[in-house]
This record gives sequence, C-alpha cells and structure tokens, in this order.
Amino acid sequence: MIPSQRPLFDIPDDVAYFNCAYMGPFLKTVRAAGHMGIDRKSLPWMVSPADFFSESEKARSLFATLVGARPDDIAIVSSASYGLATAAKNIPFERGQKILLLEDQFPSNVYCWRELARRKGGKILTVKTPADQDWTAAILSAIDKDVAIAALPHNHWTDGALIDLVAIADALRKQGAKLVLDVTQSLGANPLDLAAVKPDFMVAAAYKWLLGPYSVGFMYIAPEYHDGEPLEYNWLNREGSEDFAGLVDYADGYQAGARRFDMGERANFALMPAAIAALEQILDWGVLEIQQTLTAKTREIADRTAEFGFTSLPESFRAGHFLGLRCTGGLPADLPAKLTAENIHISVRGSSMRITPHLFNNDADTDKLVTALKKHIRG
Ligand SMILES: Cc1ncc(COP(=O)(O)O)c(C=O)c1O
Repeated sequence: MIPSQRPLFDIPDDVAYFNCAYMGPFLKTVRAAGHMGIDRKSLPWMVSPADFFSESEKARSLFATLVGARPDDIAIVSSASYGLATAAKNIPFERGQKILLLEDQFPSNVYCWRELARRKGGKILTVKTPADQDWTAAILSAIDKDVAIAALPHNHWTDGALIDLVAIADALRKQGAKLVLDVTQSLGANPLDLAAVKPDFMVAAAYKWLLGPYSVGFMYIAPEYHDGEPLEYNWLNREGSEDFAGLVDYADGYQAGARRFDMGERANFALMPAAIAALEQILDWGVLEIQQTLTAKTREIADRTAEFGFTSLPESFRAGHFLGLRCTGGLPADLPAKLTAENIHISVRGSSMRITPHLFNNDADTDKLVTALKKHIRG
C-alpha cells in the first residue's frame, strides 16, 4: 500500500477530488516539466534538431516499459480517437463482418467503427449490459465467426465494470478476430498483461490515469501491422528525417516499427516533458501498487456508502481503481452540484456516479465524501 502522496500534488486540503476518470491532475514535478516545455519556446535556439527525436523517444520507451512492450511497438498519438482511427484503417474488414462493441461504450471507440462498418457494408454488434453484471460472459457468448474486430476497454468508463481481456482475447483469436483496446480509463492504474492479452492495437490518452497532459496519447501496435498505413503522412516519421538539410530528398521508407504511425508534430515540445515526468512517477510507484492502494480506497467507500443505500458492482466484477455508485430510484439530479458546492468532485455518467480516486486522496477526503453522500441521499 502506498501512503497518501498528497504533498506531491497541488490539491488544496479542502478539495476532495475523486474524478480521475474525468481528468487526472498534474503532479508538481509534471507541472514544472510542462512549464519548462512552454518556456523554451520563447528561446527557440534552445531547441535543437536532435530534440525533435530525443524526448519523444524517451516518452515512447517509458510507455513501452509501462505496458511491457518494445519501444518499436509504440506510436505517439494525440488522442484515443487518433489511435482508434489508425486501427480502423489497418485491420482487414469485409462486407458482412461484424465489429463487437459494448453498450454505452465511450464514443471515440464507437464512431470510427460505425464509419468502418458503413463504408465496408459491415455491422456493429453491441453487447448489451448484462443483467447478472458479468460482461466477460456476455462478450464471450456474443463472439461468433462473423465477428472480425472487437473494440473494447479494460473496464467500462461509466461504472468501472471489469472485462477479462485474457479470456476474451483467447476466444477472439480462435475465431481469427482482431482485438483493439482503448485503455484510457485503466492504464496506469490497473495492470494489464500485454503478453497474455496480445491485442492488435491498444491506445491510451494520457490525461486521466497516466496523470499526463491533454492531447498526448500512446498506442501499442502489434508487429504484424508495422508495414501498415499511417493516418497522415508527416515528414518526421520518414526514414532519414534526422538530416534536416536533406529533407527534400523525399524518402519512401519510414522510421522503424510503429513510428510510422506517429502523429504529425509528435515531438510536441510543450507537452512531452510533462508526459515523461508523469510516466516516470507512475513507473516509480508501480501500477500494481497503485491498483492495490486505490482498490482499498474504493472498497472503503463502497462499504461505507452501502450502509445508507448506495450499490456498486461486486469487487470481482469491477476494476479496483474505479467505483460506480448507484442508488435505487436513481441518483438525485442535483447531487453532483451539491457535492461540487462542498468541494467534492465526482462525475455522473449514465446511471452511475464515478468515484475515481488516486494516490493524492487521503482519509479526510473519504470521510468528507461519505458524510456528504449520507447527508444528501437522506435529504
Ligand atoms: C474510455 C475513454 N476513452 C477515451 C477518452 C478520450 O478520448 P479522446 O482521446 O478521443 O478524446 C475518454 C474520455 O473520457 C474515455 O473515457
């Protein structure tokens, strides 16, 4: 268990922030790195051609370490949607085939698949929210020979419902279907065994559980796709682009591995230092340790709020870092505003109130949240 890391953040004592599913805060070190990134743009002679490569390579390799891949398997992207569009462009898909999604899945992981299905004459197969709360069983029973792609999260973004990706990946492989993951709501806070899951593509935006900047994301791309088509045709990911004087000797080849899928301007001088600092801290804490610590926090909140009527998924069916609270008759519509007025920050998606803490939370935050929920639910 990791003790509260509050002093590393700049969150005032009277703010109880339980909303990493919405946006993770910067650590002080990350903010300082971000200031450095912004400041040096005032002094452009301080940015050398080598800097166009060195920082993004560092970020790439830190992310590779985080997911247990090689730097060659990682592309730098701007968002989850960018990565998902890249996957949709590169996975073979034919008329009549199906793309499996979850009901109420995050829209970035829906629109690109609707578009692919529309263009190719395919179908979207939406797995309905299971009454018995067992998403894994529901997904497994929906997989058939026509499913060519499953585009999934590790846990549902509305209530933290967990999916057994190893079991699902096995079932998909048996059918020859491909697996695309959007792990924006889990990576950094929930360990994922890449070697066991073996996804085809896996993307995460950095601004939530990776505690990084907005407009930065990373994507794992399995080696069999490394000859694929990038979304855009920028100069930086071409072979030999390190030689600025020779850039008009246009190159057909790309930089190694997944680098061909990097977004344009991937060097991102303003934000990359912040992304690096955040990844370093997460690796230093350890994702398993983060998960264990956050699981204890959400468990306590689930147990204490159950005493006055809130319900949540059983722990075996939800991710430890992510608690979705519901109550019979639905959540009072004014509950989020009442909590915000008391400096308690949560978010509601669908019928679920997301309680998504991180290591900055302390016991006082938990007491404040539980006390307020008790007061407001009883009217
Ligand atoms: C599951 C999930 N994926 C992705 C995103 C962000 O998507 P994008 O990077 O395309 O803006 C969010 C934001 O809430 C999310 O919850």
